[in-house]
Amino acid sequence: MCGIVGYIGVKSNPLEVVIEGLKQLEYRGYDSAGVAFIEDSKFRIYKEVGKISNLEAKVKNIDFSKVSNLAIGHTRWATHGGVTVPNAHPHISNSGEIILVHNGVIENYSVLKEMLVRKGYYFYSQTDTEVIVNLIEEHIKEDNTFEDAVILSVKELSGTFGLVISYLKEPDKLIAVRKGSPIVVGVGDNESIIASDINAIVKHTKNVIYLEDGEIAIVRKDDIKTKDFAGEDVKKDVFVVDWEIESLNKGNYPHYMLKEIFEQPVAIENCIRGRLLEDEGAVKLGGIAKLENYIHKIRKFVFIGCGTAYYAGMVGKYVMENIGGILTEVDYASEFRYRNPMVSPRDVVVAVSQSGETMDTLEALREAKRKGSITMGIVNVVGSTIAREAGMGIYIHAGPEIGVASTKAFTNMMVAIIMLSVFVGRRKRLGIFEGREIVSNLKKIPELVEYTLNTTNKITNDIAKEFYKSRNFLYLGRHYNYPIALEGALKLKEISYIHAEGYPAAEMKHGPIALIDENMPVVVIATKGSIYSKIISNIQEVKARGGKVISIVNEDDKEISKISDYVVTVPNTIEVLSPIINVIPLQLLAYHIATIKGLDVDKPRNLAKSVTVE
Ligand code: G6P
Repeated sequence: MCGIVGYIGVKSNPLEVVIEGLKQLEYRGYDSAGVAFIEDSKFRIYKEVGKISNLEAKVKNIDFSKVSNLAIGHTRWATHGGVTVPNAHPHISNSGEIILVHNGVIENYSVLKEMLVRKGYYFYSQTDTEVIVNLIEEHIKEDNTFEDAVILSVKELSGTFGLVISYLKEPDKLIAVRKGSPIVVGVGDNESIIASDINAIVKHTKNVIYLEDGEIAIVRKDDIKTKDFAGEDVKKDVFVVDWEIESLNKGNYPHYMLKEIFEQPVAIENCIRGRLLEDEGAVKLGGIAKLENYIHKIRKFVFIGCGTAYYAGMVGKYVMENIGGILTEVDYASEFRYRNPMVSPRDVVVAVSQSGETMDTLEALREAKRKGSITMGIVNVVGSTIAREAGMGIYIHAGPEIGVASTKAFTNMMVAIIMLSVFVGRRKRLGIFEGREIVSNLKKIPELVEYTLNTTNKITNDIAKEFYKSRNFLYLGRHYNYPIALEGALKLKEISYIHAEGYPAAEMKHGPIALIDENMPVVVIATKGSIYSKIISNIQEVKARGGKVISIVNEDDKEISKISDYVVTVPNTIEVLSPIINVIPLQLLAYHIATIKGLDVDKPRNLAKSVTVE
């Protein structure tokens, strides 16, 4: 959750690289931040509570002429210890010679702390991290080299950790360690940058090395050596990242979230490019070609994910069963991994994740592998841990997503899942004509999404002005659009702090109907489809109890428009693709409500974009 950055190289101001990198990672956690560098043969540390900009203001007048060629930094999302300056990273050892930043959780820190206290160490913070830095110091005192002291220490730790460590006596290197928390090393020209994800690196180099669990990297400006925790050398491949730096800026948009909402047509275009075979009514997905070998043996699909990715998986259940013709389950990754799931070598477990680093999803994937299942990933970040460990997968190609509330990654996850279902369906029960219908309509989706963005932006803003003071919202949808009701409610909760619930429209009468009165806005996804007439009855039930109905309908709709208080029209498409269109006005509605309330939509309170702790 925390973001870490380390720089070693020839730049005259290494802090600039680190602060810039921390800003790119701020979405990982943002309750406090800190940096350290060497000046006059001493570590200098600056820490601030709040956003990186607070820290930046504090360091802007430093005279960098006397400053070292290395710096490390951290943006924190508190786990152990409150949000205070002493708890912010970097943490320094008692002698002042070792310093480090940490992402993760050390589970056995209290035992280690007691041991170190007995040896005379003093602790200045309540964090688990301070234990690591003093443990390394203790091993150095025992006459081990810096590298060996790090290896000995990390072997004593249980839990998860991504670390960047600096030792005053060896300023020509930084050591990075990974167990459970991601670490990437950028290989630059006479400079190396270590970070918890590539966003902090791509401005400087697109060549990166991903550390695996149980590996350390000894990083110099012009040399990177990797080893395992046994001290054996490990040879690593250098990946080339294809993200453009411009996509990491807000451009002319006030928020990343709005930019990412408006990027959806291009993102979907990138997701489908080269993958649709119109004549054959089929799709080409190179990353899952080997699935062909098992296709007639597959018993079921299981989509696993967290948050928004889970809802994309839920759409997957409807789509895969309908057009793939295979039994499909969907599970929260955090539940799947601990409930002894019934999966076998004939089942395909699909890990859905924007970041490819979410700890619960990663561990659920590993559990599925242990049970011998076929596994695959539907992932955005190329080279991320889930992408590497899944065995096969579909990259969704949404480009970097910075806003904490996921938007373009969600739509692209749905697009990838629909393509996966066509891939499976065309080898099973889906005929060429049905396949062609889906594929040709999918091709038109970027244009329809563009149109929807342009036609629903103002109306959702007007509706937001009416309802931003509401304390509760209900979202109703059915079938393919039930998960969209859940996602709409989640977006609103995440960024506007309004309580919202998503419900299958027909279930409303079994409980939530009791909540409906004139103060309850009810958003109903009511586009044309197999259960359109049933939705009309559900709306009547809301109206009869005084609820305010905001309907998402097709442009040629007559009936629902008449009985709704507010109507948002969206273009027609085939039913299986309707969730991709219908989620757009719900994203915009949540965005407008949050901005009218003056909230920081890109960094909602208490949330982190990439949850790499359990
Ligand atoms: C966090 C984020 C959500 C995201 C979820 C899964 O909770 O705040 O927006 O949907 O993690 O993230 P992933 O990277 O696995 O898709």
